[in-house]
Amino acid sequence: MRALGLRALDMLIDHVAAPSDSTPVPARTAGAAAALLRDQPVPHAAVDDPAALLDELHLLLRDGNAHPDRPGFLAFVPSPGTFTGVLGAALATGFAVPTGWRLTGPVASAIESATVGWLVELLGLSEGTSGLFVPGGSLANLTALTAARDARAGEEPHRATAYVSDQAHFSVRRALHVLGLGADRVRILPSDRAQRLPLAALAERVGQDRRQGSCPFLVVASAGTTATGAVDPLPELARFCAEEGLWLHVDGAYGAPAALTDRGRRALAGLGLADSVTVDAHKWLFQPAETSCVLLREPAHLRRSFGVELPPYLAADGTAPASGAQDDGVDFLQWGVQHTREFRALRLWLSLKTFGADAFRSAIDRGLDTAEEIARHIDASPGLAVVTGPALAVVTFRPLPRGPGPAPTPQEQDRAVDEVCRALMDEGHALVMAVTVAGRRVFRLCTINPRIETAQLRRVVDHIGALWQTRTAAPPSPRPTPSGQARAEGTAG
Ligand SMILES: Cc1ncc(COP(=O)(O)O)c(C=O)c1O
Repeated sequence: MRALGLRALDMLIDHVAAPSDSTPVPARTAGAAAALLRDQPVPHAAVDDPAALLDELHLLLRDGNAHPDRPGFLAFVPSPGTFTGVLGAALATGFAVPTGWRLTGPVASAIESATVGWLVELLGLSEGTSGLFVPGGSLANLTALTAARDARAGEEPHRATAYVSDQAHFSVRRALHVLGLGADRVRILPSDRAQRLPLAALAERVGQDRRQGSCPFLVVASAGTTATGAVDPLPELARFCAEEGLWLHVDGAYGAPAALTDRGRRALAGLGLADSVTVDAHKWLFQPAETSCVLLREPAHLRRSFGVELPPYLAADGTAPASGAQDDGVDFLQWGVQHTREFRALRLWLSLKTFGADAFRSAIDRGLDTAEEIARHIDASPGLAVVTGPALAVVTFRPLPRGPGPAPTPQEQDRAVDEVCRALMDEGHALVMAVTVAGRRVFRLCTINPRIETAQLRRVVDHIGALWQTRTAAPPSPRPTPSGQARAEGTAG
């Protein structure tokens, strides 16, 4: 065990300590993945050499998948981890820590409650707010929306109606679907020019729906949309929801941690007025995948929605303290859909204790700085222009048509943007994905990884500009050939 364990630990350390310009993209996708799909009979007998098996696995893990924790991973929302988060995950798993119930996991429950309490304070949420760790933002959204439905959908849940913007993450609509709200009960409002949920349109639609007999119960706002980092007008939405008796859920899966910093706190003003908030620690709080948290201003709603009467084998011996009271701790199995749960809180607890919250604050600030710096660089580059942002740590931009030839059509430009992203990925230096803003494909950078070096990011942006030029440069004007026929030369591609 020790030899194998130390070998595995070395592999992990090599990975975490890899130079910041290490490739974030899979180096050997097609072949390795196809072989794994094809040539894998059930391993009935033990392997002769478990160390060799680990070495083989090391190569697959190192080269076979993308690495969202590396600085070159600028797509989606990266997952820049800390080593303490990895250790917390390993220790929690290795010690088989029970987390659902205080009788068997009193320390685990206390650590989870304490970590949730730290998060509430660091995000500036109101006193009494609490919640639990869940596997991801999608599950956090589902948990919060279930509580919202049970608290506010009234006597006639079939008339319950929810409001989201077209920029909300798809997990919100999926959660509503799981809760039984069909497309006819979900109003998807077009976002405004700043990609934000427009209050006036929301108010109008809520009024119209009430007049037509629907039962509005929920508004889902974003504190950092995935596509552009836009923050919905939280104070105004909170006021409106309070007046209308609607539940306000804020999906801050990616953006909420910005509230640890001064400028982030300003950008996210009103976060504490939400009835519930989603925050993914596996994004901007630097923890391994599946470390997310759902927080409710009135956590008693969680027990109302998810609490169960315990069967005799869990409840009958009288040693379990009564659940629910804040000062008494929590049986987390009563607060969410999971019974057996991983001890996710330990990752963040260990990381916060080790580095201190100030280090987190600086690391988040650095992501904001990087976004601002790269936006300035883009705007100063002759062939490029910022389209949105920097908003939290997301910048989108597009190349400007240049050169003597005819400008490419919008469709050709859109295609070229996606081709450039693909070419960049094939080269292996960086992973950048395009998004659609106002109907056009644009490049998008998410700069939350504090290990991003600005010079390195500038090179990525410059290279994007160069790749785009080669893809869209007009072919030179046709020159007559000796036979008199036109011939295209030097077609770019
Ligand atoms: C705004 C937002 N909400 C929800 C999610 C879903 O979170 P998860 O992938 O942890 O389920 C994401 C993921 O990127 C997100 O950006």
